[in-house]
Amino acid sequence: MKKIKRTVSFAVILAAVSLMLVARQAGNSHVVAFSPDPTEPLTEWEQNPPAAQNPHIAELEKKIAGQENKPAEEVFKNIQIFKGMPAGRVLRVMAGAFGPALGVDCSHCHTVGEWEKDDKEPKQTARKMWIMMPKVNNLLKETIGKGMVNCTTCHRGQVKPALNLPK
Ligand code: HEC
Ligand code: HEC
Repeated sequence: MKKIKRTVSFAVILAAVSLMLVARQAGNSHVVAFSPDPTEPLTEWEQNPPAAQNPHIAELEKKIAGQENKPAEEVFKNIQIFKGMPAGRVLRVMAGAFGPALGVDCSHCHTVGEWEKDDKEPKQTARKMWIMMPKVNNLLKETIGKGMVNCTTCHRGQVKPALNLPK
């Protein structure tokens, strides 16, 4: 009887731990879910990311309604790095990748409402980072056969990636 009890509690603990691991993965996956490849279909998360609840995104999505699948440069005013990306996806990258990866709001990179302006340094830096990312990934592919770096890899929710471990 005691043995059965022990086996059952062990199974329960094992199940709980596996569930926690799955939940953790699912929690992390939203930041890596976006693909820089505009020809890939939107992932399930991209279709309905938690960040779509952002009021600016909701407003912008209303504004571009019916044009979500048009190339971003035809819908927005100052597209340099996202040429060819569906306009709807650009908004998902803003809300779901750029913001959360750095742990910032839209206003870190934009004067809110004047999204096309290049008046903030971080917006320009983000463009450079976007261009750097595939270079790093290509180098990794050459080195270890796979490239899996995105904004979150370095930033992990912070504007300045850490140089040292937390004390
Ligand atoms: C880390 C910086 C960063 C953050 C945070 C960010 N953006 Fe952006 N955003 C950019 C960059 C860079 C571009 C220009 C893309 C290009 O050149 O193709 C851009 C472009 C845009 C555009 C297109 C404007 C146009 O007409 O050309 C919109 C709209 C936009 N962002 C909305 C948002 C919203 C809403 C948020 C917050 C949910 C947000 N962004 C958060 C960096 C950022
Ligand atoms: C290989 C690591 C790495 C990757 C990948 C990376 N960054 Fe960075 N990023 C950095 C470092 C390092 C800095 C400089 C931080 C500092 O000034 O201390 C930086 C700075 C920035 C800044 C300026 C921060 C500020 O002061 O406002 C922005 C914006 C930014 N990154 C956006 C991005 C975005 C968006 C992506 C993904 C497209 C990205 N980064 C991917 C390492 C990285």
